[in-house]
Amino acid sequence: MLTFELVTYRYAGAARPSLQDVSLVIGSGEVVGLVGASEAGKTTLCLVAAGLAPRTVRGTLKGRILIDGTDVAPLTIHELAGQVGIAFANPATQLSGVAGTVYEEVAFGPMNLGFSRSEVIDRTEAALGALKISDLAEREPALLSGGQQQLVAMSGLLALRPAHLVLDEPTAQLDPAGTRLVAEALARLALDGASILVAEQKTDLLASICDRVVALDAGRVALDGPAFEVLGDARLAELGVAAPASVRLRSLAGAAGPGPEALAHLDGALAMEATA
Ligand SMILES: Nc1ncnc2c1ncn2[C@@H]1O[C@H](COP(=O)(O)OP(=O)(O)OP(=O)(O)O)[C@@H](O)[C@H]1O
Ligand SMILES: [Mg+2]
Repeated sequence: MLTFELVTYRYAGAARPSLQDVSLVIGSGEVVGLVGASEAGKTTLCLVAAGLAPRTVRGTLKGRILIDGTDVAPLTIHELAGQVGIAFANPATQLSGVAGTVYEEVAFGPMNLGFSRSEVIDRTEAALGALKISDLAEREPALLSGGQQQLVAMSGLLALRPAHLVLDEPTAQLDPAGTRLVAEALARLALDGASILVAEQKTDLLASICDRVVALDAGRVALDGPAFEVLGDARLAELGVAAPASVRLRSLAGAAGPGPEALAHLDGALAMEATA
């Protein structure tokens, strides 16, 4: 469980806070989507949740962040890294820079955690397989495309099997196939009990994996509720967020006036498309 209690964050030198009185609970097994216009504070919330702000990005934090009920304030960045897995939009910054191959890169995390050799191998192969990048195992991470690097970084995260995850636009560089693999991997981690916070522009992805969605507006929580409610909320457009295709199509269909049966068909077709 990941808890934010009245979290306010002001970057050093900034005129006003980038997060204001944010309170959220992300339960075990829950995937919470984070949406909002550019500059709404999504990345800031991820940095604060991961403990990078204010530890490495300077600023002032008010309020509390708790992991499984324990205040994280006294923890070092390394202690926190063992508890919260993080992924950011630019995968190059996340790769270790020391691994010569993709295999070593993905194995790096579990090796550092001190797992046995066979456990490291199991976790590495499962994580590579989950994102269908086993064929990249012997490649050099630095020489991959942005999308491939994003899958490698996510694979490294999966190999850690974290109980708490904070992801800032983890599919920014991925095509629909890669996005779907990441979505499936996150859904599996949630089934295993992970608490997951995922900031994403791709609301179709959020519609397919989130229990709840939170919309930020100028650093404050503007909407917080079940994914289908928030993603179908008419205020989403005013908050600078594009609704998922299913919602946009339904409102188009609604204007043309088909019956409920046609809409049920449409939902079925979209669900098929989302999982195909
Ligand atoms: N290091 C920093 N120092 C000062 N202000 C910052 C810093 N980083 C971000 N901000 C400010 O904090 C606010 C929130 O930015 P943030 O990056 O969290 O938004 P975001 O919702 O992630 O936007 P985007 O969709 O563009 O990624 C913005 O007003 C931004 O200018
Ligand atoms: Mg951002």
